[in-house]
Amino acid sequence: MSSKCEITGLSQEDSKLFEYLHSQLTGKLEINEPEKEMISSFGKPLENTVSNNKGHKSDDRRRENLLKHLQKSVASKFSNSKLTPFGSAESDLALKGADFDLCLQIQEANQKKIIKRIGGMLRGQGMESVQTLTGAKVPIVKFVDPRSGFNVDISINNILALHNTRLLANYAKLDKRVRELAICVKYWALHRDISDAPNGTFSSYAWSVLVINHLIQEKVIPNLQSGEDRTIIEIEKREYDITINEELSADKSNQKSLPELLYSFFMNYATYDWNDKIISIRNGESISRDEKGWMNEEPSALDVSNSEEERPPRMGEHHLSIEDPFDVEHDLSRVVRAVGELKIRDELLRAAKLMSEGTKWKDICGTVNPDRLKDMEPEDLFHDLRDKSDGIVKGMLDKTKAEIEALEKRIEALDAERNSTIRMARAMRGVIDETSDLRKEHKAIITGLKDRNKNLDSIKTQRDKINSDIILPIHMIEDELAKVYSRLTEEIDIHRVPSLEKEKIQFAWFLELQAMHGKAREASELHQRFINLVKEQKGEIKKLKVYETKHDETTMKLLEQEPLLKDKNINSNEARSYDRRVQNIQKALRERRGEMHKLRRESGRLEAWMRKKNSGPQGGRRGGNNKQFKPKSSKPKEASGPITLGDLSGLLSGLSTDSSSKKEKKVSSKKAGMKRLGNLGAHRGSRSHFKKKE
Ligand code: UTP
Repeated sequence: MSSKCEITGLSQEDSKLFEYLHSQLTGKLEINEPEKEMISSFGKPLENTVSNNKGHKSDDRRRENLLKHLQKSVASKFSNSKLTPFGSAESDLALKGADFDLCLQIQEANQKKIIKRIGGMLRGQGMESVQTLTGAKVPIVKFVDPRSGFNVDISINNILALHNTRLLANYAKLDKRVRELAICVKYWALHRDISDAPNGTFSSYAWSVLVINHLIQEKVIPNLQSGEDRTIIEIEKREYDITINEELSADKSNQKSLPELLYSFFMNYATYDWNDKIISIRNGESISRDEKGWMNEEPSALDVSNSEEERPPRMGEHHLSIEDPFDVEHDLSRVVRAVGELKIRDELLRAAKLMSEGTKWKDICGTVNPDRLKDMEPEDLFHDLRDKSDGIVKGMLDKTKAEIEALEKRIEALDAERNSTIRMARAMRGVIDETSDLRKEHKAIITGLKDRNKNLDSIKTQRDKINSDIILPIHMIEDELAKVYSRLTEEIDIHRVPSLEKEKIQFAWFLELQAMHGKAREASELHQRFINLVKEQKGEIKKLKVYETKHDETTMKLLEQEPLLKDKNINSNEARSYDRRVQNIQKALRERRGEMHKLRRESGRLEAWMRKKNSGPQGGRRGGNNKQFKPKSSKPKEASGPITLGDLSGLLSGLSTDSSSKKEKKVSSKKAGMKRLGNLGAHRGSRSHFKKKE
């Protein structure tokens, strides 16, 4: 179709979307060498970006506390395990609000199982948004810690990541421009939405490697992986060279400023020969594709993007190749998808062009996808309040306070509901436990009765069958036997000798009586057993009644102590359903408390802004008319500088407002209550008291 570009094949829409790349591919893009002064004018804004992303001490403290907590509550559950932080927070290349990466080193090999188990533990202790990613190259559990607000990733046995973090940390120590350039590049990439590996662009780590590579090329830093002494480790039967030459130092011959380095960074990669070269910081300079053996596979990003097929083909590998410094088989561009590649190339050209024209840094970094940044801290805590009138901010504060009040009531109600449900579950457990022995006996008797009944039936059947075959009762048989016997054995009167026939009949009758007698005795024994069993049965039935009365009495007694249980059906199922209810209320409480935490922060922020506006240049901390904002020890920042959320956290942690002391009291009394109540299944109490079974 005519609307497609004949050179690039891009549609009109895509030509606009990838404007700079399209211009470059059609030979129309011109980037003129900028004046030195123009580049220097980026100095201040870049400095601001760097300083705004400087971690606050309170962040470090929160990270340490969280690490300690996870060591105790998660890592200690696996024998011989070790939990180690890695990633940008450790290498000092972190943007504000960056993830907290942790590696659990563990002997057991079934990583997926471990990840799932950890996920369960974290959910149990109230961590939020817990996700277990078992299909990834490195299985990860992701979650948000509601206390610190950190997004945390725990991966298992991610040993190389520990080493590459150490490598980046060593580079960062060599020259402050490493951190500065990394922060500016990562900040720009984040805002331009090209630093999102799960969505098909470079990982933040890949951008850091590109920064190191550029600074090695610029001779700002040496190649720390060079040198004679090599350190080789083996992981899962593969060897890795993890040499880091810590002896080397920067030679300081390159004194380029941060804006100059940033501009050369953009120019370097905007015009880089990705077709023939592969980035390798391990090698200290690019490697040719032939040497590395990573071919520029088809289809290209443009082919995929221009494909009219309903399901476009998967892009070939190794287009924007970056060799991992330690895992040399790993191309960091493996995650990049077709649109991602076009975006990255377009953005690099755009940044170089705009910088060369002196466009403001703020506009160069204009946010493309605000949704991605919504969980991150704004650099300037008051950015949204600056153009609002005092009246509007006051209105926002009043609204927030009203929400806090309403939420406090909701939390109180939930607390009360939870306590009564716990009481109920416990009382019900009490009844069930106290009467369980009785119920056991009761059950044994009933089983005995059933068995005995069966026996009685069988004996009765046998006895009756015999009796139906015998025409005479036993005593008559015995009499008759005696009579016939004496008749057959008495002295014979010669005149009255019985005929032979008659004598035969007598004998036959005698034998029949004898057989009948045996049967009759058997029937009589069966009858006796029958009588005995009936007696036993009656005795057991009496006992049963006694147990039933005892059970009723015990239940009655407990019911009198616990009126909540009246009219309730008391059984284990019912008790379990109360446990479940306790757990659900706990969950709701956790969520409400999270909301409360956010509202309190917001209220603190609004108050801080009003104070800042009304206090004048001295900062006005001595005013003291605002009871809710009295820092104990934290030193306030200069009123004129931007205050970040980290600063505010520091300030808030030094506060001792009425509500916070009240809250502390509540927590301790809650803990005491929990101890009294025993284990009802749901996690209760503060984090350090968490003892839930996994
Ligand atoms: P990230 O990409 O999150 O980088 O990877 P980061 O340096 O921590 O940057 P922020 O905090 O997101 O801004 C985290 C860590 O995971 C390892 C690296 O150690 C990296 O520091 N990693 C990441 C790899 O080893 N390989 C990869 O391909 C990606």
